[in-house]
Amino acid sequence: MNEENNAFVVGGKSFTAVAINCAAKAGEWITTKLGNHSRLELKHSSHDLVTEVDKGSERLIRNLIGTHFPHHSFLGEEGVEPGPEASVQALEDVSDAEYLWIVDPIDGTTNFVHGFPFFCVSIALAYKGEVIVGVIYDPIKDELFVAEKGKGAYVHGKRMGVSEEKTLRESLIATGLPTDQQYALPLNLKEIACIAPEVRNLRIAGSAALHMAYVAAGRLTGFWEIGLNSWDLAAGALLVKESGGTVTSTQGESYTLGVRNIMVTNGHIHDELLHALAKADTKE
Ligand code: IPD
Ligand code: CA
Ligand code: CA
Repeated sequence: MNEENNAFVVGGKSFTAVAINCAAKAGEWITTKLGNHSRLELKHSSHDLVTEVDKGSERLIRNLIGTHFPHHSFLGEEGVEPGPEASVQALEDVSDAEYLWIVDPIDGTTNFVHGFPFFCVSIALAYKGEVIVGVIYDPIKDELFVAEKGKGAYVHGKRMGVSEEKTLRESLIATGLPTDQQYALPLNLKEIACIAPEVRNLRIAGSAALHMAYVAAGRLTGFWEIGLNSWDLAAGALLVKESGGTVTSTQGESYTLGVRNIMVTNGHIHDELLHALAKADTKE
């Protein structure tokens, strides 16, 4: 068996097994640091936080992946300069990569810093630009969400499926408050004002990746947010797709690694949510 014949297994080691191992190890380590981080830095804005735990988690994951797959490329949040332009450029720089690991070492750093128990490790592997493995691990609940392209999505070994709601009115929808105060936040606030009256309720819990895992698990009907990066989205996008949901940009375009404005839903309410967002007229 070689990489060409099987995109999931190389040298007897499953890509997915390595992703799970990395997420579990990083997640365990992160929880030992909860309430215990020593350095808090600001990135792009006063709302964009990073700690030494984010950096340590990324180092751990990068080293483990490098040990197993030294020829693979790696894109991790902490290896990229803050701000949207640098993120777009970093993705462009690895656009030729055959195998690309895309890692958010802690998605939900603000929650981690405050001890609000909703954050995760997000790891995806893309083959020629298409996500083939997605793993999201919530170390607080010890919940591991795993998807392989074409093979379904699972939480702790149990197959996941999106929820059944058919209308926005009966939907529980999540969104995020972007750290980009200049561009993304004002637009998202406008969208929130437009969507909130249309849905059963809204949740803003502070981890885009975990929100997407919850859509995959049928716990949320949908999620949207603008101004996100590939590492926030890649694993969650595959989880939702493999759980039978729909993944597009907020303009309804197909998901690719370059999408920054995301919408994921159970599929049934996708068009209705797209139309409702369009009414906010934010011209993203
Ligand atoms: C953030 C979280 C948050 C979202 C922000 C992201 P980070 O990621 O996903 O929910 O609203 O836009 O930047 O900084 O915690 O990895
Ligand atoms: Ca993130
Ligand atoms: Ca992060």
